[in-house]
Amino acid sequence: MTTPLVRDRSINPATGKLGVLTPGLGAVASTFIAGVLAVRAGHATPIGSISQMAHIRLGDRSAGRNPLIRDLVPLAELDDLVFGGWDPISSNALEAARYCGVLDESDLQLISGELEGVVAMDAVFDHRWVKRLDGQRVKQLPSKWDQALALIDDIERFRTDNGCDRLVMVWCGSTEAYQEPSAVHASLEAFEDGLKANDTNIAPSQIYAYAALQSGVPFANGAPNLAVDIPCMGELARRRGVPIAGKDFKTGQTLMKTLIAPGLKARMLGLRGWYSTNILGNRDGEVLDDPENFKTKETSKLGVLDTILQPDIYPDLYSEVDHVVRINYYPPRGDNKEGWDAIDIFGWMGYPMEIKIDFLCRDSILAAPIVLDLALFLDLAARAGESDLQEWLSFYFKAPQEPEGLKAEHDLFIQQTKLKNTLREWMGEEPVTHSEAG
Ligand SMILES: NC(=O)c1ccc[n+]([C@@H]2O[C@H](COP(=O)([O-])OP(=O)(O)OC[C@H]3O[C@@H](n4cnc5c(N)ncnc54)[C@H](O)[C@@H]3O)[C@@H](O)[C@H]2O)c1
Repeated sequence: MTTPLVRDRSINPATGKLGVLTPGLGAVASTFIAGVLAVRAGHATPIGSISQMAHIRLGDRSAGRNPLIRDLVPLAELDDLVFGGWDPISSNALEAARYCGVLDESDLQLISGELEGVVAMDAVFDHRWVKRLDGQRVKQLPSKWDQALALIDDIERFRTDNGCDRLVMVWCGSTEAYQEPSAVHASLEAFEDGLKANDTNIAPSQIYAYAALQSGVPFANGAPNLAVDIPCMGELARRRGVPIAGKDFKTGQTLMKTLIAPGLKARMLGLRGWYSTNILGNRDGEVLDDPENFKTKETSKLGVLDTILQPDIYPDLYSEVDHVVRINYYPPRGDNKEGWDAIDIFGWMGYPMEIKIDFLCRDSILAAPIVLDLALFLDLAARAGESDLQEWLSFYFKAPQEPEGLKAEHDLFIQQTKLKNTLREWMGEEPVTHSEAG
């Protein structure tokens, strides 16, 4: 008997409300929430969101089947989303949006009542992990175990108060100080013992992740810190049957890198160096001004080129790449980052060429649709019976989490194919291979 190429799977319908919880109610989270409210009220279009705007080809080109993704897969409707979050500084989403200054007051005015209604819960926050911030609205509890239990209570209260059928959590909190996984992260048992013993290696993002997974809530990590990228969280996600994804939203300069590097490689053009520097002046920039927090971001940003270019396979083209990433905190720019790239490439007979990029981007405008897509797709994955790492969502991440024993895929176009083919497969459609006949 041959195995069929595609399998139909049953996906529970998206009935009732979906609560989207964000640890961190800063620039990204408030821009995401404001955007969804504005779209719902008919004031905006969800530009940048694959789940809302992208079409997906089904079958042969000649069949002319090209529905919107949201018409093919049973996603939650924007009208059914409710929002909640935790923050040690912002008190609600309106205040956060005004402080961050990403959106104009004229846009905020139209939805100000609803935004103000998204009130931040007191955070599990530890200054040691984000030295540039002083948390004011912080849970004062004796142990990390108590903090985890308090977050689990918050999650259940939010679920009940808002009549949610399902919840998802997307980490939109500050980047934490750099950390390698250690013994306390090796197993669920070690982690729970560590929570009770107040182990210093357990960061706040891991406590949120633990609370989410224990509550059956899928978790996506928008920052480069570990959060669910540790063995104990994989173990918990499998045990509770919960999907996870990470890490670090792919926006700005890294998005450009994953667009351009695959193009250079596709044409077998060599790369000698790639110097990236940024100025940004938002709270994220202030946090990343601390070397310990910058190291977490730098590690996430540096991994991209090697995996795309495969220097082991193409030593003549990519074995001598100098890759440098700098971020400079420069308050006058606020959230409107400017990123410069100086790219030194070489072509036929080794002749050098240069590419310069000056990207005047808006970080949170690029990140907000990612939060929406991750929330909707993780909820879909949960209803499709998926658990553990959702590698098909690596499209959205700067440093995709790696399945055990495998290298992550960084090339945006391969990631897009993976995302779309996963959706096709779940809906009982053939994968599209773009071969001559298809
Ligand atoms: N903006 C982007 O394009 C982008 C891209 C990739 C990754 N990120 C990451 O997303 C995260 C959010 O970015 P942002 O621009 O909104 O930053 P932000 O500084 O505006 O917001 C982060 C918020 O998290 C809060 N916070 C810190 N520790 C917390 C804790 N333990 N619990 C709850 N809240 C906590 C802070 O008070 C702050 O309000 C950062 O880690 C950033 O590095 C952003």
